Amino acid sequence: MSKLVSVLTSNWEKSDSFTISGYQRDGGYKALEKALKMKPDEVIQLVKDSGLRGRGGAGFPTGNKWGFIPQGDNKEHYLVVNADESEPGTCKDTPLLMANPHVLIEGIIIASYAIRANHAFIYIRGEIVHVVRRVQQAIEDAYKTKLLGKNILGSGFDLELTLHAGAGAYICGEETALLDSLEGFRGQPRLRPPFPAIAGLYAKPTVVNNVESIASVPAIIDNGVAWFTSMGTEKSKGFTLYSLSGHVKNPGQIEAPLGITLRELLEIAGGIRAGHKLKFWTPGGSSTPIFTDQHLDIPLDYEGVAAAGSMLGTKALQIFDETTCIVRAVLRWTEFYKHESCGKCTPCREGTWWLVQALADLEAGRGSEADLDKLLDLCDNIAGRSFCALADGAAAPIISSLKYFRAEYLQHLQNGGCPFDPVAATLFQGSLT
Ligand SMILES: Cc1cc2nc3c(=O)[nH]c(=O)nc-3n(C[C@H](O)[C@H](O)[C@H](O)COP(=O)(O)O)c2cc1C
Ligand code: SF4
Repeated sequence: MSKLVSVLTSNWEKSDSFTISGYQRDGGYKALEKALKMKPDEVIQLVKDSGLRGRGGAGFPTGNKWGFIPQGDNKEHYLVVNADESEPGTCKDTPLLMANPHVLIEGIIIASYAIRANHAFIYIRGEIVHVVRRVQQAIEDAYKTKLLGKNILGSGFDLELTLHAGAGAYICGEETALLDSLEGFRGQPRLRPPFPAIAGLYAKPTVVNNVESIASVPAIIDNGVAWFTSMGTEKSKGFTLYSLSGHVKNPGQIEAPLGITLRELLEIAGGIRAGHKLKFWTPGGSSTPIFTDQHLDIPLDYEGVAAAGSMLGTKALQIFDETTCIVRAVLRWTEFYKHESCGKCTPCREGTWWLVQALADLEAGRGSEADLDKLLDLCDNIAGRSFCALADGAAAPIISSLKYFRAEYLQHLQNGGCPFDPVAATLFQGSLT
């Protein structure tokens, strides 16, 4: 039996999958009709019962988040969709938006109806101009078809949808920095509490959800709780998009029930590129602790990955074979975090700078074994002591790479340079495998 699921990706192969007519021909916007006949609280309850968990990284239950919005408070409520997708390796929301923007728009209307919001926003990564254009066109088509605006499908429910293109900063994917950026300020995380559900966009109750979380809602409304909960594992229900990239034969997005293993995903993707073997991988993007070939059979759900010492994150599986230098890969990621640190707090702003210096020295074979402990000490002073999770993410690949590949760091010192560098390798007597 196939391990795959085809829900979010069901129409990706069709040439008109992104058009409103193509989406409606395949049953699109039928879930909206159904949802608008339900009471808003019934929609929230259904999403709660489905067990859908946020696909943006933290896995927070989506229905519970919607339920936090105070009702009858006579305030504006907002839905904000996080389409920033800047985590290295993460590439699921962007292809979803290109192939099927209307499934997101349908999910947005349903979610806004449930939380009693009359204005929703999509905060999209500004660099992906082609995707911005595609989503903008889809919004215009939804307005023309009267699926957005006043009195949607004669229900009396009104919704405005605004697309906002960000200026390109990883930190603007962090939900409170995103809200600041959307309000026109420099994107930096806010102190919590208050949480966005109480004081979010323009200090009004706000739900922030990932693209994939919201895009999963129409299928749940359409097919019901029993259908959704029949997929996945005990606490991680349903299907999701896994993104495979790097040294894999057929990289791309694979839709599967939560709990599938990397071994199974690699089989589907044609395996590691010919003649090579797996060395290390990220289960959920570069900010999640790395795994190795010992972890091929771990169930890729929230609990399974956490029990093995990492995080499911965005399910961005970056695959590296034995030709990759672990120190160089970790240095590249750390340079990214240093560049993207928003500068608000000292441990992250200064610490990521020091991490890059230390790693660059180690990669060049400069220093001593004591510097490995210094690196861990730096991480210890950054992770858990900074204002937001960006800093924890910066430390994660360093700590985990030292756990699994300390010997390779030491080989750089013994070699006086990177043993993967062809020139340095000729001087190096040790074996890397
Ligand atoms: C540095 C940083 C970057 C983030 N980037 C994204 C992002 O690009 N997209 C996203 O959905 N969530 C991102 N998140 C997580 C969001 O803060 C938030 O948890 C998420 O949008 C909630 O949606 P969900 O409950 O549907 O998962 C990021 C978090 C951090 C700390
Ligand atoms: S941890 Fe880094 S990104 Fe987060 S607030 Fe502090 S400086 Fe900014």
